[in-house]
Amino acid sequence: MAKDVIIACDFAGRQQTLEFLDLFAGGRKPFVKIGMELFYAEGPDIVREIKRRGHPIFLDLKLHDIPNTVKKAMRVLSSLDVDICNVHAAGTIDMMRAALEGLTRPDGTRPLLIAVTQLTSTSEERMQNELLIGAGIGETIVKYAQNAREAGLDGVVCSPLEAAMVKDACGPDFLAITPGIRFADAAADDQVRITTPARAREIGSDYIVVGRPVTAAADPVAAYQRCLKEFLNQ
Ligand code: C5P
Repeated sequence: MAKDVIIACDFAGRQQTLEFLDLFAGGRKPFVKIGMELFYAEGPDIVREIKRRGHPIFLDLKLHDIPNTVKKAMRVLSSLDVDICNVHAAGTIDMMRAALEGLTRPDGTRPLLIAVTQLTSTSEERMQNELLIGAGIGETIVKYAQNAREAGLDGVVCSPLEAAMVKDACGPDFLAITPGIRFADAAADDQVRITTPARAREIGSDYIVVGRPVTAAADPVAAYQRCLKEFLNQ
């Protein structure tokens, strides 16, 4: 798959989401990320509707349960014909293998499957003191990425600043999908470990996930095009 910009459609409901996507009618159909809020509010129909409109979809539900449950849930999601799904690497290699099995359709095709390593909202201090993971956060992220690779997954979600580290450990073809993107002249909001679309390309991100810099822009289409220009250099 080619590099691309994914818009995080963090809207509360169907109407707001479709009105936003209407802005892009007639032009390039952006890759869209659907997260828990929208999926739990609207169910699988919103996924089918956005897919019908021609958008590639990253369904960001971050599954984490016993392997059998994740396998069965992934079997359901595979019928939605999305392009990318994800799980938490903390569910172990067995769980990730089960997810992959559930996601693979009878004809052998499947969406890309990506693992969340450590959430960017988890600090090293909390990881060590609350989760009792003694290693450093960088070491943990690399180990979780290696586990995902061993399980046969296609890549990880990580901070753009961690993409190079993941590529070094898992190879250039192992995908790095990176949120935490801000334009050089914009506010960070609540994100901490951020970088620009252009810098994310240089570090090696395969897909950047951009939410508020596009969804809250005065001109979302122009902001999206700026992301494409900086990230894809086109
Ligand atoms: O608005 P903003 O660009 O910060 O949105 C980033 C998107 O990426 C949100 O949907 C957020 O939930 C998601 N995300 C993140 N950090 C992670 C994983 C997902 O920001 N580690």
